[in-house]
Amino acid sequence: MIFDLIIRNASQIVTMEGENLGVIEGGSILVQGGKIAQVYKPAEDKGCHAERVLDAKGMVVMPGFVDCHTHLVFAGSRTQEFRRRMAGASYEEIARKGGGILSTVKATRHATFEELYEEGLKWLREMLRWGTTTVEIKSGYGLTLADELKQLSVIRSLSEEVPQTLVPTFLGAHAFPEGPSREEYVNEVIDLMLPEVAEKGLAMFVDAFCDSIAFSNEETRRILEKAAELGLGIKLHVDEIEDTGGARLAAELGAISAEHLIKSNEVGLRAMAEAGVVPVLLPATTFFLKEKARPNVDLMRELGMPVAVATDFNPGSSTIFALPFAAACGALVDGLTLEEALKGITINAARALGLADEVGSVRPGKYADLLLLEMDTWEELLYLFNRNSIRTVIKRGEVVCAHE
Ligand code: NIG
Ligand code: FE
Repeated sequence: MIFDLIIRNASQIVTMEGENLGVIEGGSILVQGGKIAQVYKPAEDKGCHAERVLDAKGMVVMPGFVDCHTHLVFAGSRTQEFRRRMAGASYEEIARKGGGILSTVKATRHATFEELYEEGLKWLREMLRWGTTTVEIKSGYGLTLADELKQLSVIRSLSEEVPQTLVPTFLGAHAFPEGPSREEYVNEVIDLMLPEVAEKGLAMFVDAFCDSIAFSNEETRRILEKAAELGLGIKLHVDEIEDTGGARLAAELGAISAEHLIKSNEVGLRAMAEAGVVPVLLPATTFFLKEKARPNVDLMRELGMPVAVATDFNPGSSTIFALPFAAACGALVDGLTLEEALKGITINAARALGLADEVGSVRPGKYADLLLLEMDTWEELLYLFNRNSIRTVIKRGEVVCAHE
C-alpha cells in the first residue's frame, strides 16, 4: 500500500497517549486520508511507501497545539490601558470605569466585517507559526444581536480560509453594555441572541463571564440553562476576580470546561472533578495582569483532573498568542510539571473542546495534525519557549506552514 505521507527518522514522537506523554524514541508516522494511519516504533518500520516522505532527522514530532480559549476576533488596541496598568491602575478599576472590555466593544462595533476578518486572519497566521492547529474563538465584543452575529460570522468566514479548525463560542454575556438595565440585557441574550445564534448554527458553545465585575451566578445560570435547552455546549469564565462559587456552578450546569479558576474554592473544584468539568488554566493572563492568586493545581492533580492550558488571547488581559509561552507559564507561574503543561495544550485542551477523539494526540484514527520541531528532546519546547523551533506544521495530513 502507498500512503499519502510518511514522517521518518524523528528523534522523538510525543504521542500524549498513556503515561509520561507516551514518548517513542525514533519511529515513523503513516498518514492516509488526512488521518494518522499508523505509528511505528523504529524496528517495526519495514520500508513502507508513501507519496510524500518527510525526513524528521533531528526533529521531535508532536500533535498540533490546541488553543481552547481565545477572544481572537476584535478591533482596536489597549496599549494605553496597558500603560495605565503598569503605572499602578488595576484591571478591575479600569473595567469598572467603563474601560477594559467595553473599550474593545466600542472599537469592534465600529469595525467592518472586512476589518475584523483581516485582523483575525493576521492573528491566526501568527498562531499557526507557533503550532496552533485548533483554535476556540469567543464572541463577546459586540453585545448587541447584530454585532455579536458580525463577530460570529467573521469566525465562520475565517474557518473557511485558514488551515486551522476553528471552534466558535458565543459570549454575549461578557460584559454589560451601556444602555439597557442588567435585567434587560440578560433577557436580550436569552430571548433574542441565543435563539438566533443557535438557529444560524454560529456557535458550538456558549460562555459567560461569571464574576464580581460581570454576570452574577443567577444571571449566568439563566443564560446557560437556555443555552443547554437549545442544545449548545457550556463553558464558563469563573472565579477570576473573586471567588463567587463559579466552579461549583460550572459543575451544576454540566459545563464541558471552566476557565481561570484562580480563586476557586476546594468544594467547587471537587464538584467539578465529580462532574467531569475540564479545568482550563490561563497562566499567561495571570502573568500579563501581574495577578497574585494561583489556581489550586495540587488539588486538581490529587483529583486526577485533566488540566488544560490556553492563551486567553485578547487585547486586554492576555496579548499572548503563542501556546508554547502559555504552557511555559503553566509551569513557571502555575506550578505545573512540564508533562502537565504539554498535555495542557494538546490532549487536555482537546478535551475542553469535546474534540479528544479527533485531535490532541498521535493515535491512529485521529487527524494528522502534527508538528516537526527542531530540538533534541521535547522539554526544550518549554525550556526555550521564546525560540520558535517549529519547522513544519501539518494539518489533516497537509503541510500548511514550513519555515527555516
Ligand atoms: O478572559 N475575563 C474576561 N474576559 C477576558 C478579558 C477580555 C478583555 O479584557 O478584553 C479574559 O480575561
Ligand atoms: Fe477569556
